[in-house]
Amino acid sequence: MKILVAGGAGYIGSCCTEYLLDRGHEVVVFDALLKGHRDAVDPRATFLLGHLGDPAAVTAAVAAHRPEGIIHFAAFIEVGESMQDPGKYFRNNVACGINLLDAAVAHGVRKVVFSSTAAVYGMPRTIPIPESEPTRPVNAYGESKLIFERMLAWYGTIHGLQSAALRYFNAAGATERCGEDHDPESHLIPIVMQVAEGKRDRVRIFGTDYPTPDGTCIRDYIHVTDLAQAHLLALDSEECGSFNLGSGTGHSVRDIIDTVREVTGHPVPVLEAERRPGDPPRLISDSTRARQVLGWHPEHDSIGDIVESAWRWRRRFPDGYRK
Ligand code: UFG
Repeated sequence: MKILVAGGAGYIGSCCTEYLLDRGHEVVVFDALLKGHRDAVDPRATFLLGHLGDPAAVTAAVAAHRPEGIIHFAAFIEVGESMQDPGKYFRNNVACGINLLDAAVAHGVRKVVFSSTAAVYGMPRTIPIPESEPTRPVNAYGESKLIFERMLAWYGTIHGLQSAALRYFNAAGATERCGEDHDPESHLIPIVMQVAEGKRDRVRIFGTDYPTPDGTCIRDYIHVTDLAQAHLLALDSEECGSFNLGSGTGHSVRDIIDTVREVTGHPVPVLEAERRPGDPPRLISDSTRARQVLGWHPEHDSIGDIVESAWRWRRRFPDGYRK
């Protein structure tokens, strides 16, 4: 299948591109390199430098390559920033993506698979969280993803464009060549590893008084290759709608720090800090729908393996993609 990957130079997009190529698919990466890295793009992919906000560039890419499917990863992802500059998120994550959907409709793309997020649920009441849980985002980032999901549904109703919105929980881990390299880094696992490497003094634990067994927030960490598998299944499937993607197992912030200590063999000093605004105490996925409807079988069920894969990547690329 020929697949256009918007945002294929980012963390999950580059891992997914590699996964698709390994399985014999043809991939065209469209990325503005605002956050992504040119070196993250697998050399077997065709690379197009362009911004989704440029309708001519988007239309030209889709018209020239005529992909059967599009995977849309291109987005800003900083929850905190989205609460300071919501316009940046609605403009980029919502408005710019319209160009991609219009080009998909104009050029007969069969299916769009969209990177959504557990952040659409806000403070969920049901744990583990099924897709039927009400969507009430508590930050502009989650809202931007939810609006785009709703737009996709309208493009389905009006234009017959098939789509699947994959609601990721906490993406983690790495492949041999693709890993997580954000600037600035705000995610827990890479930050804890930076402490283990001696690049940061300590990791701040944001809140130790949550109603969880050790008082720190619980998240559902899912290996990036397992996410990639779900994208291909969603592209192949006729099924539409939203799918939660998580392991179904929760790990606290302290669990993650302990796992990084074990995997790396380095001490990780911590500083107990205030809660980070907008953090739900516990996010764990009920991914029954993805397993049953898409036939998704995540392969990495141990947090130790996930952290180990990330650590291997960091040792191979100590400066990330900025060599
Ligand atoms: N945390 C710390 N210290 C840090 C960084 C994070 O204690 O230095 C804590 C956070 O407060 C949170 C947990 O570690 O409790 C995980 O935080 P991340 O920033 O790694 O991830 P989030 O759960 O906040 O967000 C991630 C993605 C979002 C997505 C969400 C869905 O970044 O895009 O998962 O679950 F929406």
